This record gives sequence, C-alpha cells and structure tokens, in this order.
Amino acid sequence: MSSTDGLPPAWPAMWRAVKRGYEAEPRLLSVSFSMSLLAALPDALLALWLKLLADGLSGDRRGLVLTAAAGLGVSAAGTWFLRVISDRVQRRFRDRVTIALEAHVAQLQASIATLEHHERPAYLDRMAMLRSQVFVLDHMYWSLFTTCGWILRLGVTLALLVSIHPALALLAVFALPTVLASTWRPGVERAADERGASANRLARHLFDVATTAAPGKEVRLTRIGDRLVAQRRDAWERWYGPVATARRQSAAWHALAWAVFGAAYVGAVVFVASGLKAGAGSVLLVLAAGARLSAYIGATVGEVGFLRGFWLEGSRRLAWLEDYAASLVRGADAPVPERLAEGIRFEHVSFAYPGTERLVLDDVSVHLKPGSVVAIVGENGAGKTTLVKLLCRLYEPTRGRILVDGIELARMPPEAWRSRLAGAFQDFFRFELSALHSVGLGDLPRLDDAPAVSAAVRRAGADDVVEQLVAGLQTQLGPTWPEGVEISFGQWQKLALARGFMRERPLLLVLDEPTAALDAETEHALFEHYAAAARAGPPGAVRGTADGRITILVSHRFSTVRMADFIVVLDGARVVESGTHEALMARGGQYAELYGIQAAAYR
Ligand SMILES: Nc1ncnc2c1ncn2[C@@H]1O[C@H](COP(=O)(O)OP(=O)(O)OP(=O)(O)O)[C@@H](O)[C@H]1O
Ligand SMILES: [Mg+2]
Repeated sequence: MSSTDGLPPAWPAMWRAVKRGYEAEPRLLSVSFSMSLLAALPDALLALWLKLLADGLSGDRRGLVLTAAAGLGVSAAGTWFLRVISDRVQRRFRDRVTIALEAHVAQLQASIATLEHHERPAYLDRMAMLRSQVFVLDHMYWSLFTTCGWILRLGVTLALLVSIHPALALLAVFALPTVLASTWRPGVERAADERGASANRLARHLFDVATTAAPGKEVRLTRIGDRLVAQRRDAWERWYGPVATARRQSAAWHALAWAVFGAAYVGAVVFVASGLKAGAGSVLLVLAAGARLSAYIGATVGEVGFLRGFWLEGSRRLAWLEDYAASLVRGADAPVPERLAEGIRFEHVSFAYPGTERLVLDDVSVHLKPGSVVAIVGENGAGKTTLVKLLCRLYEPTRGRILVDGIELARMPPEAWRSRLAGAFQDFFRFELSALHSVGLGDLPRLDDAPAVSAAVRRAGADDVVEQLVAGLQTQLGPTWPEGVEISFGQWQKLALARGFMRERPLLLVLDEPTAALDAETEHALFEHYAAAARAGPPGAVRGTADGRITILVSHRFSTVRMADFIVVLDGARVVESGTHEALMARGGQYAELYGIQAAAYR
C-alpha cells in the first residue's frame, strides 16, 4: 500500500479543509481572501500606466501624461499599503486557524478508538506527515489566497498583452513547459521522500535511542552506541540519496523549460517593435507585461506546486483522518449494559495484528461468567495481553466476535464501553504529573478528588509509595520537572495499579501483570485481598458484585492464579485448557504440569 492509496480525492478534500477554516474563522478568512485579491491589482496594472505614459509623452498629450503619472503613483503606494494590511490580516488569520486545526487533528487522533493507526506502517507514515504538516496547514490557506492573487495578476497581464495583438497570448503557451515542470517537480520529489519515509523514521528513531535518557542505561551497558550511530547514518543515506537525485533531475528539466520561455519573450518584443511597427507605448507595455508575465507564471506555478504538494496532500490526509475516525464510530449504537447478567463470550475469535498475517489468537471461544475472577496463563507471547486488548476494544477481532451480555462488543460505542473498564497494563505509561493526578486520571471526573484517590491508592497497596513522597499526593513526579522526583519502576507500577482502581463500578477489571515488579508475596496478598472484595457481593446478588463485574487477571505466578474462579490456559494462540484450579489439576494437563514445576521450586 503506497501512502496515497485510499486517500480521499484531492479537490473535495481541499474544499473540506477550506470549509473547516471558514468554520473556525469566517470573518478573518473572508477579509484575508479579499485583501489578497485587492493587493494583486495595482501591481498588474503597472504595465498599463507605463504604456499610457509613453503614449502621452510621444503624442504630447498632457492629460494622458497626468493620468498615467497619477496611476503610477497610486499603484506604487497602493501596492505597498495593501501588502502591509493584507499581511497583517493574513498573519492573524494564520495564527488563529493553526490553533483551530491543531486542536482538530489532536482531537481526531485521540478520538480514534483503536490503536491500529499507531501501528500499521502505512498509516504511521501518513500520520507522521500529517503531524508535521499541521504546522504548515496555516501556510496552506495563505498559499491558496496568494495563488488566487497570482492568477488574477496573470489574467490582467494577459488581457493587456492581447489588447496589443492577440498573437501575444502565445507567450503564455511558451510558458507552459515551466508550468508542467513546476507542477511535476514537487510530486516527484515528494514521491522520493515518501518512498524513503520509513528509512527517515528509522534514522530519527535511532537518533532518539542514542540521545534520550530512557534507553540511556541499556545503550551504555550494551555499548551499542557506535553501532546506533552507524545504523542511523546508513538509514539517513537510504532516505537522502534518492531524494537528492530526484531533486537534481527535476531542477535540470525546470531550467530547460525556463530557457524556452526566455527565447519566446525576446521573440515577442522583436515582433511588436519591428513586425507590428507599434509605438513606443506598446513596446513598453509588452516589455513590462512580458517580463511580469514570466514572474507571474513563475509565482503561480510555484504556489500551485506548493498547493499540490502540501495543501492537496495535507488536506487529503486530514480528510482521510476525519473519515477514518468517523468510520470507526459508525454503527456503534448498542447500549452498554448497566450490569452483567450473562457475562462475556468469545465466539471463535481469531486475531492477527494489523499489517501482519500470523494469528496471535486462533479460534478462541470462552465464556467469562459474571461476577467471576478469571485468570489467563500462558508462556510469553501466548497472546494474553492481546486477548485483554481485544476486550478493551483497542483492536477489533479479525474473525469471530465478542459478546457482552449477548450484544456484540463491536456495536457498543468505544467511549461508553471504556467508561465501564478499569485496570492496569503490563506496559503502563508513566504520567509525569502530580501523584494525585497521575492516579486520579483513572477516573477523569474525579481527577482532583483526593479522598477517592487515596482510597484507590489504598486498594492498590500503594500507600507506602505515597507516604515516601515529600509532598504526598501533591508531589510532582518525573525528575525533569521543577521539584519533580523520580520513583522506582515498582513504585511507578503500584501507582499505575492505583490508577486502575480509580473507577468504582467497572464491568470489567483487567489486571495484566500489573504486579510483575512486586515480589510474589505482595502480589499474593494484594490479590487475595482483591479477590475477596470482588466476590463479596451485597445480599441478593446472584454472584459476586452487584454489577456482575468480571476481573481478568494475567499472571505468571500460579500461587496467585490458583485463587481465580476460572483459569484459561493459552498456548500458541489457542486455548488449550480452561476450568477451575481443582479441575485443571485433576486433569493433569499443561496447567497441572506448570503448577507442579513452580510449586516444587517454592518448596
Ligand atoms: N503491536 C503488535 N504488533 C504485532 N505483533 C504483536 C503486537 N503486540 C504483540 N504482538 C505479537 O503477538 C503475540 C502475542 O503477544 P502478547 O503480548 O499478547 O503476549 P503475552 O501472552 O501477553 O506475552 P507476555 O507474557 O510476554 O506478556 C506475540 O508473538 C507478539 O509478537
Ligand atoms: Mg502480556
């Protein structure tokens, strides 16, 4: 898939972006556009004033000379005055529209429910270009207006030339090669750039790895530094080589096209002066207008080239992102149940990561009963985290379906479903905020609710972490921030777990090895406490909590796993066994064997 495959068509996309700008800043956009047209006029009329001046002087007509002189004066002053005003208006418009568009793109990206756009290479390159282009999106409006201004100048100039002799319009035909070269150039260069986009991304990634703090420890220990530098150089060359070649070639063609136009210009002046035997005024007009024509065509094609390269592609990517975000929401109309009565069913679910073929989950069918604690075990890479991610709707199953109380999960709006999810992940993120906010994020409406945060911290057994912080919950985390402190990996993990415990009424709680950095004893105690709380439903509840909450627990420690009500054993993307600890032990299969090994090691 090339990076422009499947993008929406160019002109409608551009129109959409113009409308978006209009919605954001209707008045500024209109004024800005009119000003650029108005500012174009005095400049284009200069040739006319020159002709009138020469005609007046040679015919000794004072009135004409005065008119021409006045016209020249107004033109000169007008050009300057209108440009100053128009620049000011445009700058204001650009500043404002940039903010609006950046917010729009960020909001779109964050609103996309799945993670696919962050992982599929073709999408990644597209997103990277879009991200870098957001900053120049404002320039695109300016460029669009300027292009219209140049086209107006071009039209006026052509009309003046034709007024001398229609054949002079041919001058524009000789300018066509320059137009073609200019429109073709950015495309070729961009294509070379995009072909090397992944090499370029690799180069930047390697640079980050070599220079940032996070990988610093391992980079030094492994002494991989020199290798990184060499690889980066290599990746950079792979990107830059073809790009430089493409630039050189297209520049040569461009120069040739301009030579053709230059010859035609000289021909036109000779034709008017000796062929038509026209007066000095007309020759002057052709000289001035012809010279301007080349400048105008140059500017027009330059701007059009920019428009094509950035604005069209940029607006197509923006339109793609808008459509993509919208397509994922479409059809999500089923309500999320208030409480789980039947639980969650996987029906023949298979999954391969976007852009890959290998099934990471293969025909998985399990029933997770309401109110139960379900443990998922399996070797590294068995697909445990992937199964959890599907439950969180970070991806859609490739085949099969997931039913929540009989309703397909894919039909529930991701936002609504996620508001009933809680949990902590293996690869949690370190939110470098105050400890209060870093935990409070788990339930956004209660971000600042210190008692709620403290309760979550307690549930996660992270009291000791907070007690050690200089300013308690108010402590800024992350050493690069003013008064920020660094905490250990295990402490970060405990805070992540507390964040996962913020929501009080989740339907699904996922704990994907959130305690891997803790010692086995602490993990055991934590889960024992947690499982007891989860099961102690109020009187009258069928089973477990009143909400029928399901808890998914991923752990490599069988001492923890055995506490679960139901255990699913994954191996090589498939479910090989499932049942209670007792049933699985009695069966004497893979679970019993692995349990035996760990138990023996502890004895
Ligand atoms: N984003 C991804 N893109 C492509 N493949 C992936 C991605 N994430 C995981 N995989 C692959 O999917 C398989 C299952 O990964 P998963 O993370 O689900 O395993 P796991 O059972 O959680 O392992 P662990 O015990 O190490 O956490 C692995 O082979 C991995 O290579
Ligand atoms: Mg995992």
